[in-house]
Amino acid sequence: MTTISVIGCGYLGAVHAAAMASLGHRVIGIDTSTDRVAQLATGVSPFFEPGLDDLLRTGIDNGRLSFSADIADAAAAEVHFICVGTPQVKDGSAADLSFVDAAVASLLPHLQAGAVVAGKSTVPVGTAARLAPLVREAGAELAWNPEFLREGWAVKDTLEPDRLVIGVASDSAGQRAEAVLREVYRTPLEVGTPCIVADYATAELVKVSANAFLATKISFINAMAEIAEVTGADVTVLADAIGHDDRIGRRFLGAGIGFGGGCLPKDIRAFAARAEELGLRDSVGVLRDVDAINLRRREHAVQLVVDELGGSPLGKRVAVLGAAFKPHSDDTRDSPALFAATRLHGLGADVVVTDPRAIDDARNVHPQLAYEADLDTALRDAEVVLLVTEWPEYRYDLDPAHAAKLVARPVIVDARNALNRDAWRAAGWRVRGMGRP
Ligand code: UGA
Repeated sequence: MTTISVIGCGYLGAVHAAAMASLGHRVIGIDTSTDRVAQLATGVSPFFEPGLDDLLRTGIDNGRLSFSADIADAAAAEVHFICVGTPQVKDGSAADLSFVDAAVASLLPHLQAGAVVAGKSTVPVGTAARLAPLVREAGAELAWNPEFLREGWAVKDTLEPDRLVIGVASDSAGQRAEAVLREVYRTPLEVGTPCIVADYATAELVKVSANAFLATKISFINAMAEIAEVTGADVTVLADAIGHDDRIGRRFLGAGIGFGGGCLPKDIRAFAARAEELGLRDSVGVLRDVDAINLRRREHAVQLVVDELGGSPLGKRVAVLGAAFKPHSDDTRDSPALFAATRLHGLGADVVVTDPRAIDDARNVHPQLAYEADLDTALRDAEVVLLVTEWPEYRYDLDPAHAAKLVARPVIVDARNALNRDAWRAAGWRVRGMGRP
């Protein structure tokens, strides 16, 4: 058993804290928000993440998991995981490191001799090398241990990761830090989880390059969707066909309105900004195209709706199915769904947004939009339905014949290519997809 602190209890930290407690460690989660700490301490997650509430409650009930807003309460920990956010800066595309810097600075006076500070936040390459001497001066050692969890699968991804990456200094203190982290991750390591030990720069780059690759894969297929639209091809058939080549693989070849969320969009921008600082602008020039393709697909989805409204959206009822950036999440950060909804609202359409989980989050950010939790009510009198988040509720559970009776006109823009088009067409719907005839 290791005594652990987790600094920053957002998506990453709250899940990490609960997961480490379930592996048998004693864990204190630290967050500057007293509201968040109070809520987590009752065993209720501040956001929707399947399985997390159970894990929190178990850890709190068996006494291994607690939360505090006071960093001094982290002092007993042998390992401190830095899990604070690195959002995009307000006036540019780089990552804002102020939360990471503040977390490390606040921790320094409380570090025990020999403690390990393990960074999990996604940071520009070079950050760990900058922070490492500060941690050493305080008698502790820095490691960089990036996280690859997906929202919606975060508990499973944390307890059963597909790989562990540990970046350490190349001396005996670094080796000791590696040994401490191997002990923390003993359970996943015992079942054969690959563990890559590297220098700081490699560990940092593994994370950003993994997200850059995933974003590139999505934008690649979305670029093919643009070609398909002009040539009459079907991008979903194309993706199936190239996906059978296991060097390519079908996953993340889902063409549609593109990627959003708190990670992929800001991570590719931060990576491009960092490369530019390093004088390597051209090396990741592709990421600017990846970003541009992604944003074009959002505009295209909006344009399909406008076209279906005869070019004049003013006053016309549009039902937007989905607000979260992807299903099984209530996260609306940089959500393509809300991009489309706010754009249509701005064009004068009478927009109503529904989502199984994300309405509260969406309303906080975009109070100008109308929200309706009940799907049938949201569909009522719509002149166009826009499907933007492929929740199973819309994809599998919604009966097209039933939905056809509710709307003013049976026209749906399937911006995720998620629907069974034959079934919808058989029920009388006009179905528009992305990159499909
Ligand atoms: C992503 C990575 O997948 C994680 O490995 C990483 O740890 C995480 O970012 C992070 O950096 O914290 P996440 O943002 O939860 O995870 O979401 P993804 O499942 O990667 O989806 C991202 C976006 O891409 C969503 O908007 C999704 O709808 C979209 N997407 C995904 C597509 O448009 N097409 C696809 O084929 C797949």
